[in-house]
Amino acid sequence: MPRSKKNYKQFWKLGQDEYNTQYFDITPDGDLMVKEGNYQYNIPNLIKKYGSPLEIVFPHILENRVRNLIDIFDAYIKLYGYKGKFYYHYAMKVNQNKEFVLPVVSEGGHFDVASVNELWLVKKMLLEQKFNPKIRVICNGPKTEAYITLIEELKAKGLTVIPIIEDYNELERLKNFKGETGIRLNMNIRVQSHWDKRFNRYGFREDEIVKLGKIRNLSVLHYHISSQLEKVDGLVEPLKRALEIYEKLRVKNPGLDTIDMGGGAGVPYEKKGKFYTGKSAINKIVRTAKNYCDKAGIKHPNLIVEWGRYVAAPAQITLYKILTEKSVSEDGKRKWYIIDGSFMNDLLDTWALKQKWHVTPANNMKNRKLQRIWFAGSSCDSDDKYTAGGGNISMPRLEDLDANDHQYVAFYDTGAYQDALASHHCLLSSPAKIICQDGEIKLARRRETSEDVGKQFGW
Ligand SMILES: Cc1ncc(COP(=O)(O)O)c(C=O)c1O
Repeated sequence: MPRSKKNYKQFWKLGQDEYNTQYFDITPDGDLMVKEGNYQYNIPNLIKKYGSPLEIVFPHILENRVRNLIDIFDAYIKLYGYKGKFYYHYAMKVNQNKEFVLPVVSEGGHFDVASVNELWLVKKMLLEQKFNPKIRVICNGPKTEAYITLIEELKAKGLTVIPIIEDYNELERLKNFKGETGIRLNMNIRVQSHWDKRFNRYGFREDEIVKLGKIRNLSVLHYHISSQLEKVDGLVEPLKRALEIYEKLRVKNPGLDTIDMGGGAGVPYEKKGKFYTGKSAINKIVRTAKNYCDKAGIKHPNLIVEWGRYVAAPAQITLYKILTEKSVSEDGKRKWYIIDGSFMNDLLDTWALKQKWHVTPANNMKNRKLQRIWFAGSSCDSDDKYTAGGGNISMPRLEDLDANDHQYVAFYDTGAYQDALASHHCLLSSPAKIICQDGEIKLARRRETSEDVGKQFGW
């Protein structure tokens, strides 16, 4: 528990670059606040104004992460005298909301899309002249006819759209495609991550891919090994394997000049211990590619990463009000704090993957007396809870609240994946969403009424 007045910020793990909380601080009154240059946003005041549950997006955090990622790659490319170029492709599946996609474009990001509907967003941006038409689009995922038709349409409009061939059917269907193509490698390699699976169903196995021979207009070798990789090795070892395959494929496909490493860079959700930094990972990636190619005497490939979680997660927080408390067991030492939203609906990975989150109070952050708690969601499901894996979560005691005051809680790093997975169990409304940018607040999604939710179910 905090001893001196100074260490509240440290106690709640705020203001620390290595945990991506450098923009977060505490006001003298104990309120959570977020800084954007000289602007600052008082979080409990925003909750009072816009209600709860509430999601807040900070585009400046996203922009900084994209810019930084590109700058670091470019810096190591220069430092090592690497001859390939670097392209950052934002994996749109991580967060397709406009308030996420547009800041990425503004900082020089390209796209990786996974479906016809994501590609349709690219078409919409193109028609609205939202971006430089030199932007490059990698098309992943199984290709329906509608998806391929849209790829061809955008290619004909002059956009660089690169379909990544996933299987033999796509190989046949795309054999007359006029533009660059890519191929997906299903690597036989295990890495440490939440999602490591014994069998992978995406792309061509190593033994298959080397037998494909000449592939029309092949320029990209792509793989995606996993998400939230726990160690830098999880990024570097697959790259070494991909370099070997790149070397073999180039014999018959001399136009192959790019390795797309997919996603996977992790976020230190738990704010404890040491998590690798983007900088250390990028350093190893560029050095590994350079050393391998120099030894083998082959062309340095251009490098692509599709890191989604890495750039998007820290740019959003999710806030709830505590409705009430209940004792977990007879001794009353631990309480359930019931939130006015749902983990299963709004932060689905809490349930699906036992995701751990960084959690702090959003007000009363300087209270000395804390209570050991677990959180329960408002749906009827007993799995709708957050217990930090059965661990301890500390929050201010509700009995110390002033009359008419409420306790609010902040969940950090919620910008990746949660929105597209969100649902409406018990027909609870989704959180409202606001955007804090340049000192101003914009409403991105108003609070759903009963009518709005009913409509989605045909009422
Ligand atoms: C092909 C592909 N690229 C990129 C990503 C983004 O992964 P991450 O968010 O781990 O960076 C994914 C995620 O599933 C993916 O399937």
